[in-house]
Amino acid sequence: MSGFSADWLDLREGADHRARSVELRDAVGAMFEARSHVEIVDLACGAGSNLRGLASVLPASQRWRLVDHDLALLEAARSRLAAWGDRVESRVPFVILHNGRRILVEFRLADLASGAEAALDGRIDLVTAAAFFDLVSPDWIARFARALATRGVPLYAALTYDGDERWTPAHAQDAAMLAAFHAHQGRDKGFGPAAGPRAATILREALEAQGYLVSRAASPWRLGADDAPLIDALADGAAQAVLQTGLSPAETIGDWRAQRRSACRIGHVDLLARPPSGAR
Ligand SMILES: C[S@@+](CC[C@H](N)C(=O)[O-])C[C@H]1O[C@@H](n2cnc3c(N)ncnc32)[C@H](O)[C@@H]1O
Repeated sequence: MSGFSADWLDLREGADHRARSVELRDAVGAMFEARSHVEIVDLACGAGSNLRGLASVLPASQRWRLVDHDLALLEAARSRLAAWGDRVESRVPFVILHNGRRILVEFRLADLASGAEAALDGRIDLVTAAAFFDLVSPDWIARFARALATRGVPLYAALTYDGDERWTPAHAQDAAMLAAFHAHQGRDKGFGPAAGPRAATILREALEAQGYLVSRAASPWRLGADDAPLIDALADGAAQAVLQTGLSPAETIGDWRAQRRSACRIGHVDLLARPPSGAR
């Protein structure tokens, strides 16, 4: 079990889509603007949010491979995509029509913990992932960058957590809570000790070492009055994570959590890496 529920991914999807760097997303689209068809692999796809966030900038014919180790999330992806599409053209293979695009989707159950290589077979024009790289280890990232370079494909990694959090109203324990939260972020999520807030930097360096040209842009969540359920869920999640670390007294955590939070800025980074040849 991954610990990511479809309900949680639903709750964050709107904020995720708003937060993405439009500039980088459009740059992804520009790479394929002369093409009528594109083949994409989405690693750790969850309930399919990344497809829904990206399809509109990609060519009219798309083939997506959605990869995750959680069967319930792959099933959630299928049902959410069916509802999102203007029409389901076919169930097997799964093909939806959406806003002038024909999108064929393969749902692949795979554990990426020991590497992404097996998920990167066949023709691929673009590898993508959203809200994923902070879960994996620096070693996993290095190996992934080598696998990507071997195939010579670009990477679009959206919404990697960067550790910069600002809560409103501020609390005297914000810095201590964040440090403890980051200690929790660094725990093993199945891929070795997680890169956590360092992930985007480690990913950029690993890709540059393989000769990739890497562009980055900030993609923070800016949450306010309309996002109260997501803010509550984030504050609950942070409080529980810090409690598990034992780094802050329960009383402090309770006091921090009890304060009504009306807004926050949670930092993320989007990254687009073009392969050395620049051919794509
Ligand atoms: C924060 S969620 C992001 C989901 C999705 N990309 C999105 O933007 O909504 C992280 C995802 O990583 C997946 N995941 C975690 N460990 C995995 C593993 N070992 N193999 C494959 N997927 C994994 C989870 O199941 C979950 O879908």
